[in-house]
Amino acid sequence: MSWADLRKEYALQGLAEADLAADPFAQFQSWLDQAIAAELPEPNAMLLATATPDDAQAILSHKVRPLTEADVAIEAGKRNFARFGCAGCHGTELEGGLANPNAQGGQVPSLLHLSDDYTKDEILAVIRNGRASPLENASGPTPPLYMPAWKSLLSDEDIHQVVEFLWSRQQKAKAGW
Ligand code: HEC
Repeated sequence: MSWADLRKEYALQGLAEADLAADPFAQFQSWLDQAIAAELPEPNAMLLATATPDDAQAILSHKVRPLTEADVAIEAGKRNFARFGCAGCHGTELEGGLANPNAQGGQVPSLLHLSDDYTKDEILAVIRNGRASPLENASGPTPPLYMPAWKSLLSDEDIHQVVEFLWSRQQKAKAGW
């Protein structure tokens, strides 16, 4: 069956571009109002997605946007992150949190807010050269976990891909909300 066979023209109202509101929120409100007025079960079980003209063109012509070089690097970096065991210390969701007694903060750090404090080059250097955790209490014991140096195991290309993956997952802490 093709997509075209699945298509239905709805009797109540068609979907012509001229009928659509320019503002997607206004459009959503109007469709939601119609669904409620028609007493449909669960009218809030509805999704509205928006697309750029290019996206729409790609969808209509059944062509998926080709992967860019950046997408490929991010995917490879994600695989490297799992394959080289980064997730073992930093978590599969980059959330950190593994206990690291007497390291500053007491935990392996999350990798979700790197872009607030570092450039990509600085992070490349941390991964390449590793880093010992600064101590919480200077006269206390050495924390059991430290950031290993990866330069003898990973090529610069591998590390670059990992950094692209990490950057694709950054959560902006200072975004105001
Ligand atoms: C044995 C546990 C362990 C493994 C495995 C590990 N890390 Fe780390 N990593 C740490 C610890 C501990 C720190 C904190 C070092 C510090 O405080 O300076 C750290 C720090 C970092 C930082 C800097 C975070 C910051 O906020 O300063 C990055 C980036 C990072 N790791 C990425 C990676 C990547 C990528 C891999 C895999 C290639 C990896 N780590 C593997 C333990 C680990």
